[in-house]
Amino acid sequence: MSKTVSGFSKLNKLEKIDWLVSTYFNNENSVKQVLMQYWNSNPVLQDLHDDFIENTISNFYLPFGVAPNFVINGKDYTLPMAIEESSVVAAASLVAKFWSTRGGFKAEVISTTKIGQVHFMYEGEKTELQNYFADKKEQLFKVTDAITQNMRKRGGGILDIELRDKTSELENYYQLYVTFETVDSMGANFINSCLEAIANEFEKEDIQIVMSILSNYVPECLVHAEVSCKVEDLYAENSELFAQKFVQAVQIANAEPHRAVTHNKGIMNGIDAVVIATGNDFRAIEAGAHAFAAKSGSYRSLTNANIENGIFKFWIEIPLAVGTVGGLTKLHPLSKLSLKLLGNPSAKELMEIIAVAGLAQNFAALRALTTTGIQKGHMKMHLTNIIKQLGASEEEKEYLINYFENKTITHNAVVEAYNKLVGDN
Ligand code: MEV
Repeated sequence: MSKTVSGFSKLNKLEKIDWLVSTYFNNENSVKQVLMQYWNSNPVLQDLHDDFIENTISNFYLPFGVAPNFVINGKDYTLPMAIEESSVVAAASLVAKFWSTRGGFKAEVISTTKIGQVHFMYEGEKTELQNYFADKKEQLFKVTDAITQNMRKRGGGILDIELRDKTSELENYYQLYVTFETVDSMGANFINSCLEAIANEFEKEDIQIVMSILSNYVPECLVHAEVSCKVEDLYAENSELFAQKFVQAVQIANAEPHRAVTHNKGIMNGIDAVVIATGNDFRAIEAGAHAFAAKSGSYRSLTNANIENGIFKFWIEIPLAVGTVGGLTKLHPLSKLSLKLLGNPSAKELMEIIAVAGLAQNFAALRALTTTGIQKGHMKMHLTNIIKQLGASEEEKEYLINYFENKTITHNAVVEAYNKLVGDN
């Protein structure tokens, strides 16, 4: 049976589900139930979610947690985090508490410039193109006047338009390289609208516009966050050794791409969770962050650490194009609430908060990896998940957690211990 369909988008939600169930699930009724049990009973809220994307047939929940005790630039925060991975929120909370008694996190936005490009092909004389651009430049700003009006009122707009010769990379390839300040919005729609207006105005017979689009590589939209303290205040058991191994762990991630990718993945655990909770575009953040990690030509750590004069310092520098207005930020009730929880920050403040979430997560991972190892915490979570799956009672749960305190946790071992316990009773 063919599985193609035409006019699918015109079907209503139930018809879409029916088509799916009959085409892919052999008319299994349970499929419909699974999908429908995630519908929100509040029709207004469900309509809102339906309209975020196309062909919505259900909602896909992510746990929404909070990590308290963050002190950033002397201010207290509880971070909202939307993430499915266990241990991330717990780690963030622990690290937040740890650093709150050591001066907290310091963060600073270095720059906020965003970038868009009009990519085009031109075979003629370069000087003619340069003259054409010079004559046109003012007009290119003018044609965006209506689009930039509100943004200019808020202190943003187009910063500059440059003509860039890219013919050494690709024959006949040039671009208009446009820089933007988008203040509190991420600005994707704004940037793309400006670029398309600029491209329309710039196009002529011998200039073939290929495309106009923002760049998610934003090395000039950069934030720095750090923690520091005396080495002796760092760790209860052997601070010197801990600090030394911690710095070595960062150095390894700087020297070795395989490790760097995992190291940065851990950073993104914290970053994405706050980015998602605040209604920002985590794919854009991910793409930009990894490109930045590879800016030297080899993929490196996004964080750094050193020990100087007995002071341990750990910091991150990361491009983060986020917004606190526009997009989903105020549309999704939980994003709106997340931003409120953070005190309705400006985009700059949100950049600082998110960078701190990444730094904290990396601190937690490296602290675990260089001391007890990562599995101890993970397996504890794994144990509770298995216990839950087995349907154990509270007493049985308590018994199993104690029983596995100093034993290796495997799925089989837990099932065996549970069966024995239940059998014994
Ligand atoms: C797991 O999600 C993240 C870690 O692998 C990060 C790291 O290795 O640094 C623990």
